[in-house]
Amino acid sequence: MTKTIKVANLVKNYITYEKNTGFLASLTSFFHRKKKIVKAVSDISFEVEQGELIGFIGPNGAGKTTTLKCLVGLLYPDSGTVSVLGFNPFERKKEFLKQIAFVMGRKAQLYWDLPAMETYMLVRDMYQLSESEFKKNLNELCDLLDFHKYLNRPVRTLSLGQRMKAEIITNLVYKPKILFLDEPTIGLDVVMQDAIRDFLLNYNKINKATIILTSHYMEDIESVCDRILIIDHGKLIYDGSKFDLKFKYAREKEFNIRVSYKHKLDKARLSQFGKVLSYDAKTARILVDKDKVNNLIKYLVENYDIADLDIKEPDIKYVIKKVFTSVKDEVDNNNY
Ligand SMILES: Nc1ncnc2c1ncn2[C@@H]1O[C@H](COP(=O)(O)OP(=O)(O)O)[C@@H](O)[C@H]1O
Ligand SMILES: [Mg+2]
Repeated sequence: MTKTIKVANLVKNYITYEKNTGFLASLTSFFHRKKKIVKAVSDISFEVEQGELIGFIGPNGAGKTTTLKCLVGLLYPDSGTVSVLGFNPFERKKEFLKQIAFVMGRKAQLYWDLPAMETYMLVRDMYQLSESEFKKNLNELCDLLDFHKYLNRPVRTLSLGQRMKAEIITNLVYKPKILFLDEPTIGLDVVMQDAIRDFLLNYNKINKATIILTSHYMEDIESVCDRILIIDHGKLIYDGSKFDLKFKYAREKEFNIRVSYKHKLDKARLSQFGKVLSYDAKTARILVDKDKVNNLIKYLVENYDIADLDIKEPDIKYVIKKVFTSVKDEVDNNNY
């Protein structure tokens, strides 16, 4: 398998100048500005194969957007190397730009007063697409996103979700091979978030496109991505499959138990199997370590008339929270 993205020891700092308040202070600070270096990305390395679905997650300010901007060539790394489809992104060669898309949930490229279709025609000319290629791609995207009926309406009259779809089409109408999406579902309602997720999965399946996605909504990551990169304070703290992440950090299963009217659950006894999250005599929700799953099932079957039993994997939100607490613990332990 060839690697379509190679990032080695990427470092990106921002230089900012502290500003003092007050007229005199701002005059002096004009001459003696205090320089401050913000370490946005500190020595991260990873490689990506064509067709991978990657979730890039981390708290606010962790360095996600900065990394993506280095990958698409909007920022030049301070050190380290970035290669995307064999190109140095920063050269912004036409051949490179034709093969990538950068969609930012917070930033629109569409012309506000024009119908989306007019923007698409500009993109068609910019990327020198043939009329048939353009029509075919546009049709496919409008089908997947259910967007045909909005093509000729001025963008400003569209809802936020429809605008996001319009934005996605702008960036994909030339059929890029790699999609970088920075919080594409931010602010959208649940139905629209779902539509975007389904779209990304379908687009990946149909075009074998590589997708790298940042999002605050863990549901995006859970349903779209197979591999997860976690970044914190500019450092990569996890790179692996979603499955391994759950296995390593979340060894629990969530039990939802309901017993028949004849029985009353014994809370003290249940808490010996795991953390009781909720309890009301007939029902209980417990987080049980994988090693104790069998014991608990045995105990329940032998002692109760079970009306309902549901055993779930913990969701990714919980897992990520555990990653951060355990990384913090490691750091704390090293300090003492
Ligand atoms: N243009 C900029 N100038 C100065 N600092 C910046 C700039 N952009 C981002 N930063 C800082 O760099 C760090 C990483 O930011 P960013 O990559 O946007 O994080 P994320 O996308 O994970 O929220 C943060 O501390 C942020 O405040
Ligand atoms: Mg960001």
